[in-house]
Amino acid sequence: MQLDTNKLRDYYANPPEDVSLEDVDLGRLPRHVSIIMDGNGRWAQARGLDRSRGHVAGVDALREAVTTSVRLGLDALSVYAFSTENWRRPRREVDLLMHLFATTLVKELPLFHQENVRLRFLGDLTALPDATYRVFRQGLDETADHTGMTFALAVNYGSRAEIARAAREIALDVASGALAPEDVDEDAVASRLYTAGLPDPDLLIRTSGEMRLSNYLLWQLAYTEFYVTETYWPDFSRWDFLRAVAAYQGRSRRFGGVAAS
Ligand code: FPP
Repeated sequence: MQLDTNKLRDYYANPPEDVSLEDVDLGRLPRHVSIIMDGNGRWAQARGLDRSRGHVAGVDALREAVTTSVRLGLDALSVYAFSTENWRRPRREVDLLMHLFATTLVKELPLFHQENVRLRFLGDLTALPDATYRVFRQGLDETADHTGMTFALAVNYGSRAEIARAAREIALDVASGALAPEDVDEDAVASRLYTAGLPDPDLLIRTSGEMRLSNYLLWQLAYTEFYVTETYWPDFSRWDFLRAVAAYQGRSRRFGGVAAS
C-alpha cells in the first residue's frame, strides 16, 4: 500500500517517552497484522463497570487500530471479534455484541469510504442474527470496489471448522472430477479458507497477556511473529501498535531456514 509519510508523522506526533515513529523502519513494515482483541471484560471489571462497557470501549480501540493500520500503509488488518465458542457466553452479552457489530459497522462505513478500506469477513455469517447479517452484507457491497487496505473481521470464526470446511470442499471437487487428488496441495487448501487471497499475517498481536491461539488462523499463522502485551484491548493505542511493530522488526524471520549472514 502507498505510505503517506507526512500524514503518518502527523499521526504519530507527541510521542510518549519509550516509543516513537523513529523506532520503526518504514521500509520494513509488516504487510498484514492480525489482532486477538482480548480483555474487554477485565478492563470493565477493573473499573467496577459492566462487561458490556468494556466492549463499547473496545470499539474505540478498534477504530484507532484501523486508522493506525491505514496510516502505516498495511495491506491488511484482521481482528478476532467473535469465535464459534463465544456463543457460549450469556445470551445478553452475545446479543449486545451482535448489536454492537451492526451499529459500529453502520457508523464506521464513512471512515471506510474516506480511507478506501475494503471490508471482508472471516467466518460463517449464516448463523448471525438477520439484522447483523444484513448490515455485514451492506458493508461488503459498499466497499467491494475499494482498493486500499483490507479490513477483515473474524465473526463466528473457528479455525478448525474453517479447515474442515476447506477439506469438505476439496473432497467434493475430487468426487466430481473437478480436482485431481494429486493436485491437492497447500494452495488448494489456502484458496478454500476464508482468508483466500490475503497474505498470511506477518505479525499477530494478542492483548491482555494470554498465551494461546484460541482456535484462530491456525493454518495462516504458521510463520507469523507473535507479540503479546498485558494491555487490555480498550487501552490498546497507536503507541502500543508501534511497540508491537518495533518488536516485530527486532525478530529474525527465517521461515524454517537459516539467517542470511
Ligand atoms: C474480548 O474481550 C473481546 C471480545 C470477545 C469481543 C470483541 C469485540 C469488540 C472489541 C467490540 C468491537 C468489535 C467490533 C467488530 C465492532 P473479553 O470479553 O474476552 O474480555 P475478558 O477476557 O477480559 O473477559
